[in-house]
Amino acid sequence: MAIKRIAVLTTGGDAPGMNAAIRAVVRCAINKNREVVGVMRGWQGLINEELKHMDHRSVSGIINQGGTMLKTARCPDFATKKGMERAFNTVKEHQIDGLVVIGGNGSFRAAHEFYKKYKIPAIGIPVSIDNDINGIDFTIGWDTAINTALNAIDNIRDTATSMERIFVVEVMGRKSGAIALAVALGGGCEEALIPEKKFDLAKICHEIVEGNLRGKISWILVVAEGAGHAEEIAKQIKDLTSLDTRAVVLGHVQRGGRPTAVSRDLALNLGKAAVDCLLAGKKDLAVSVFAGKIREVPFAEAVKKKNFKYEHFYNLIKILT
Ligand code: F6P
Repeated sequence: MAIKRIAVLTTGGDAPGMNAAIRAVVRCAINKNREVVGVMRGWQGLINEELKHMDHRSVSGIINQGGTMLKTARCPDFATKKGMERAFNTVKEHQIDGLVVIGGNGSFRAAHEFYKKYKIPAIGIPVSIDNDINGIDFTIGWDTAINTALNAIDNIRDTATSMERIFVVEVMGRKSGAIALAVALGGGCEEALIPEKKFDLAKICHEIVEGNLRGKISWILVVAEGAGHAEEIAKQIKDLTSLDTRAVVLGHVQRGGRPTAVSRDLALNLGKAAVDCLLAGKKDLAVSVFAGKIREVPFAEAVKKKNFKYEHFYNLIKILT
């Protein structure tokens, strides 16, 4: 089936670079004389028929903005038979021939199910601050998020050193320790607590006290949200070491802000790749960059659990401490 009209949507957690990806999809499609509609609020908008016509100008001035001009949502309704059926009706009603789905692994799972049931071609553009999509080295937004977290760590380092304190900094990442490890490594932190690796807090406290005896007084421990809560860990450290310990939760700060050059570059290249794939008759897959080239990853692969090889990063953090 020839692709004449493409719908683009952003779904799941927003991440910096989503807007740049929308811009690339819209302008590359128009460049190939295709029509583009934007779906508001992700799958929810497809269910509720919230569409808007996109032209060249409609994506002006968004390349440098975090968030998404199309809004996004988490949409449990789409997992229901009725929700999918309504979404399909919107697709039919508006003569949409293909979808570009900008989001993370939950979004790809939904697009895969939709394809299996209704055979609507969909191409995914991987966006997530968590960098947790299987088969995909780097997601759009990840670089921006770790730079945002690193700025915070650098600021915390100033006060930690000055007041000779221990800090436990909690970062996002859902079930992945990828953000925590990248930030701990780049921030010169002493420890990273991640869900992929069991940790022994008593042992860590022992190291802190030993360091303290050698004159090393400030520490920054980065904890991935999937591994524990900063407040609780800070309290336990204080109880076990009697050293002044503070907790900081970076939270949604990591999700916003101007996308870095890396996030924009990825978004613009993958936006073009997604349109090229749809027009070439491809479907049910996500696009990514591997070794400088576009690589297609079937949704069936992308939705599997990513086997994150954390050991190298963790060991390097410990060697450099
Ligand atoms: O997947 C992105 C992410 O920011 C995770 O790191 C975090 O666990 C989750 O989304 C938070 O989701 P919400 O914004 O719905 O609370």
